[in-house]
Amino acid sequence: MRLSTRLSVSLVAGVAVVSLGLALYQAQAERRGLRRELERRGLVVAESLARSAAPLMEEHSTSGIERLVVQFQEHERLAGVAIYDIEEQPLATTAGLEKLGVAGTEALERALQSGGRSEAFFQSDTRTTHMVALPIVTENGRAGTLAVFQDAGYIDAQEISLWRRALAGVVVQTLMIVCATLLFLRWSLRRPLARLEKWLGDLRRGAVLEGPDLPEEADYAPLKREAARLATTLTAARAAAEEEARLRDAGESLWTEERLRAFIQTRLEGSRLFVVSNREPYEHSRRGNTVECSVPASGLVTALEPILRASDGTWIAQGTGNADRETVDEFGRVRVPPEHPQYSLRRVWLTPEEEKGFYFGFANEGLWPLCHIAHTRPIFRSQDWGFYGAVNQRFADAVLEEIAGERDPVVLVQDYHFALLPKLIKAARPDARVAIFWHIPWPNPEAFGICPWQAELLDGLLGADLVGFHVQAHCNNFLDTVDRLLESRIDRERFAVNRGGHFTYVRPFPISVPFGAEAARQAPAESGYLERTEMLRAAGVEAPMMGVGVDRIDYTKGIPERFRALETFFEKHASYVGQFTFVQIGAPSRTNIRRYHDLMEEVTEEAERINRRFRSNGWRPIVFLPRHHSHSQILPYYRAADLCLVTSLHDGMNLVAKEYVAANSDEQGVLILSRFAGASHELADALLVNPYDTEGLADAIHQALAMAPEERRARMARMRAYVREHNIYRWAGTLIAELAAIRVKAPDNGGHSQPLASELAPLAMGG
Ligand code: G6P
Repeated sequence: MRLSTRLSVSLVAGVAVVSLGLALYQAQAERRGLRRELERRGLVVAESLARSAAPLMEEHSTSGIERLVVQFQEHERLAGVAIYDIEEQPLATTAGLEKLGVAGTEALERALQSGGRSEAFFQSDTRTTHMVALPIVTENGRAGTLAVFQDAGYIDAQEISLWRRALAGVVVQTLMIVCATLLFLRWSLRRPLARLEKWLGDLRRGAVLEGPDLPEEADYAPLKREAARLATTLTAARAAAEEEARLRDAGESLWTEERLRAFIQTRLEGSRLFVVSNREPYEHSRRGNTVECSVPASGLVTALEPILRASDGTWIAQGTGNADRETVDEFGRVRVPPEHPQYSLRRVWLTPEEEKGFYFGFANEGLWPLCHIAHTRPIFRSQDWGFYGAVNQRFADAVLEEIAGERDPVVLVQDYHFALLPKLIKAARPDARVAIFWHIPWPNPEAFGICPWQAELLDGLLGADLVGFHVQAHCNNFLDTVDRLLESRIDRERFAVNRGGHFTYVRPFPISVPFGAEAARQAPAESGYLERTEMLRAAGVEAPMMGVGVDRIDYTKGIPERFRALETFFEKHASYVGQFTFVQIGAPSRTNIRRYHDLMEEVTEEAERINRRFRSNGWRPIVFLPRHHSHSQILPYYRAADLCLVTSLHDGMNLVAKEYVAANSDEQGVLILSRFAGASHELADALLVNPYDTEGLADAIHQALAMAPEERRARMARMRAYVREHNIYRWAGTLIAELAAIRVKAPDNGGHSQPLASELAPLAMGG
């Protein structure tokens, strides 16, 4: 049966039962009311008659009695009156009473015999009659009985008419309700359902990327949300499958998210993956009554997210959002990403003092400038070091809680915030495979040697089975530092450190971006020129050419150097004044540290100074956007820019360079890249620069803008092919393959690890 028929039948039945029940109740109430009214009236008449009849009975005045009765002959609704003597013989009756046929009825007989007051409704002939009988009492006692008869037939008639009206009401109400329901179904359900059906069909055929067009009402919101998620998931799965099929056909073996997922499952043989970093991948913040979720500006987050998504692992990180505590369960865990949960985030809470000493102090005023040779002096305070140790222990406790009960867990520790963590974890769980990836450069032994706690840091790091850096030069620096500062045996052949029988392998893993199906699918910007014009107009600038820089405001990124090179460029090439504008997107970072706070001012002032110098009506050379931008907000700038400037004074890798390449689907952009960024080891087709050389950098900007389209395309195509192949999935796959190949021995063997698989046989990584 169709939904509309089922609904109509149910409604008709429901409405009919309710309306009939109501009608029945109404009819009974009305009948009771009418009867009571009739009884009251009959009694009034009977009592008055009985009082009048009493003296006449006493006098035995037959004529008087007859006159009295005759007076009531024509009384409205009165069917008749009869007076009986004590012998129950009628003394006087109204005419027509005989016709009524009341004589001999059981009700009358009983009333006469009882001699008291009695009332009854009874059926006489064809009508319903009401009778009130009262004794006629004289001074000598009861002298007879008076009976008043009323016609009660009109009560039946009124009841019948009430039933008729009620039934007509039932029919009309039912019809109206059914019509309203059918109309409601049509407008509120059938139309949206038809649209949903069409959308599902389109989705099946791969013709839609967005959610269905459903009404705005809140009732549809969950359906719309789920449908949009379904579309995203299906589109991603279809793209992954298409990409896999395409690669299979082409005989390529590109790393994709799908391939990484399968790889992790087979390589880890059921072991679960745990990632530790200070920066969390999702931060919840309260704005008024709502809680918003954002992704912090961090290359590390960009790189690790796909691995966690592919492995359904656990990411342990510091909870820094002001609504983070509201969004976790009792164990500090929350499933993320919020719109499509795929892995767990376990948040660790730090006090403001701990964060100051550990994060702002030792990590970012000590280790960060120590490892980046960018001419900012490291500051080492013993109090900060104390907090660094305590927070490393806090994270170790959290990791140990998470891996409790896990067989052969794999722990990937991230970065300079956690140098002590590998040893703390291994001491408690020698069966865990532990790797630490150092996302920033490792300096030479002389530079590292100024750290008062260098031995403790190295000792903590060497607890790991694997230590990773972006480039070989940093691995070399690390081994040299260990060799110089610690009692250990360096195995140059295996590139490992043997400390008390425990091997730590040191390997380069150049990190990357999730270039793959998604980036490959991006259609080239329809018109770069139009997009650029729009973007610049939003900033109040008109210029046909645009450059972009995307950085955290950090002194290692060489932003003032970049601005000064732009100034020199406009000095040397005045024809570009009014023609080219550089957009600097700058996420404020670590602003509690004086150096960062001062840098923000310096960058703002430099931009303003240069703008004052060159600006003209409707144009300025630099647009500085000093706020956090999400990846999707940055993407249009990457795609529209003629060039991207990455001018780090020193950088582990720099993922902005690779993101720009991945986003550049029209292959018309030029990457200008610092030779002091790890990315320069891979992206040889960028214009490689020394950011300290202002003239050289200005020339590179000119070279980029004047470059022939064919050369731009050739360079960008080569870089895209490289990044596409050396994407983040390959990075993760290589790292996990290395780690999984380490045989972690049981504690009775002293926890020694075995040589890596990559030393025994070259890794079958493909590509
Ligand atoms: C670098 C570090 C990361 C860090 C990121 C952002 O990429 O290697 O560990 O997360 O900068 O810095 P922040 O201090 O904001 O986490």
